[in-house]
Amino acid sequence: MGRPRAVAPAREGPLVAQVFAELADGRFHSGEELAQALGVSRSAVWKAAGNLRELGATLHAVRNRGYRLVQPTEPLRAARIREHLSREARARVSRLETAWTIDSTNSVLLSRANPRPGASEVLLAEVQTAGRGRRGRSWLAPPGGAICLSFSWTFREVPPELGALGLVIGVCLLRALRSLGLKDAGLKWPNDLLVQGRKLGGVLIELRAEASGPACVIIGVGLNVALGAQVLKQIAATGIEATDLSAAGLGDTGRNRIVAAVVSECLAGLAVFERDSLKPFLEEWRRADALAGKPVNVSGAQGSAKGFARGIDVHGALLLETPQGVQRFISGDVSVRPAVTA
Ligand code: BTN
Repeated sequence: MGRPRAVAPAREGPLVAQVFAELADGRFHSGEELAQALGVSRSAVWKAAGNLRELGATLHAVRNRGYRLVQPTEPLRAARIREHLSREARARVSRLETAWTIDSTNSVLLSRANPRPGASEVLLAEVQTAGRGRRGRSWLAPPGGAICLSFSWTFREVPPELGALGLVIGVCLLRALRSLGLKDAGLKWPNDLLVQGRKLGGVLIELRAEASGPACVIIGVGLNVALGAQVLKQIAATGIEATDLSAAGLGDTGRNRIVAAVVSECLAGLAVFERDSLKPFLEEWRRADALAGKPVNVSGAQGSAKGFARGIDVHGALLLETPQGVQRFISGDVSVRPAVTA
């Protein structure tokens, strides 16, 4: 496991983090004003603004007016997240940190000891230098324009339907975002969040288990909030059409509130899943199924196949209707095939 890793809070981050926090209101701030507020030279501010751009932030610089973040945002703050947590989640969260930069929030939690059963450690980063997606892909997120969140949970023993945990988290994410006003969102098996066929967020679950005994999962959630043209283009180059909460009408909801809603719903869902398994989530997942009836390609450990998506079975496996009959997939990747016109 290596040494457990500590992280520096976002508030005390490097100059680039402080410049980001000053610019978060989306207004113009002159180089002079920023330099004075932060006790550094104007050229140091200029350099930090350049760093922010390299990290994917969309920054306007206008002569005689200064710098402006095109998309105003709310810096991630642990205290603000705690304020918005449900009472149950507040009691369960044993540690909650927001960092400016980390390689991957999942990797840091993986390096730490298991939380006690029923409790959770929560970690967020404004910038991930090696953010990880499913199936070895990387995860791109600009500072201020996304939520990169991981939390841990220790099951007293390995749950029988652990492989379907991603579906449970998908349902919890939907519940959280709907409670904030998101409409028309769906789930793409196994656990992508979609709005109008585009990817709004994804989940990466990693497991640390002993042969018999407790099993700790690290659940990583990436949510697009306001990606900006540059990052949207970078993601499109990887073959994924992404969207964000701003395009879906939730642009004015502060990120700390969104994080709190997500953590509150997920921790409540984990407790239910630990007690009652997958059953309490199945119908809700099926109602949100964005693939149902669509022509798809599936590629997984069991090979690849073409057919029509026919929902999930009671264990959360994807059912694919093929000319050879219905095939079951317990893991894999799905892409929708363009409709064939006569
Ligand atoms: C996917 O491929 O859809 C899953 C994306 C998961 C990304 C999140 S961001 C926070 C956490 N840390 C990581 O490195 N990955 C997950």
